[in-house]
Amino acid sequence: MTESYQKIFENNKNWIAEKLGQDKDFFKKLAAGQNPEYLYIGCSDSRATAEELMGMKPGEVFVHRNIANVVNTLDMSSTAVIQYAVQYLKVKHIIVCGHYGCGGVKAAMTPEDFGLMNPWLRTIRDVYRTHQEELDLIENEEQRYKRLIELNVQEQCINVIKMACVQERYILDQYPIVHGWVFDLATGKIIDLNIDFEHILKDIQKVYDLTNSKWIMSRKDNKNLLE
Ligand code: CO
Repeated sequence: MTESYQKIFENNKNWIAEKLGQDKDFFKKLAAGQNPEYLYIGCSDSRATAEELMGMKPGEVFVHRNIANVVNTLDMSSTAVIQYAVQYLKVKHIIVCGHYGCGGVKAAMTPEDFGLMNPWLRTIRDVYRTHQEELDLIENEEQRYKRLIELNVQEQCINVIKMACVQERYILDQYPIVHGWVFDLATGKIIDLNIDFEHILKDIQKVYDLTNSKWIMSRKDNKNLLE
């Protein structure tokens, strides 16, 4: 009996042929190194792919995915990915992309013991608590669920901005910029939540500044960032 996974090797063969058909040096170039401009932090959900939904080719986007696109300071995986992307790959944009219909966010809205998942979901429950006033005013549960997905993206963007490597490189290069998006499974559209990166950075500076430098926000004015 043929196992379904064997189809993958067949697909792989076809993919190689397709790529070589377009460019005979495709794999030579691929093996030479990566220089992605984007770091994408998204959900592990099988429907919310990174490269495909963004129309990106191999080498163009550095990817980290976990349940409900969480960036937690105690999670070595996401923090190492961000550190590497910022410090070594020097990505220009960090995208946190959630998606409507996210099972992780749904679970965090459910009063239930999820075992080992509890500490992970706690981060999202904390997002709910932080925005409880706004969320509890939304009577329609589906709308409240959608809003929590958006607010979770926003809070995870803030968690990225709290990191020293992000702040330090922003002072030097005025990059990376952090973006919050939501992927709408029902339409295929990417919705930009228009996270005001500079504003958030300025807002949290008093508490989360890790750069030990007196710096001011001035990307738009193109001024020196150090006072
Ligand atoms: Co999800």
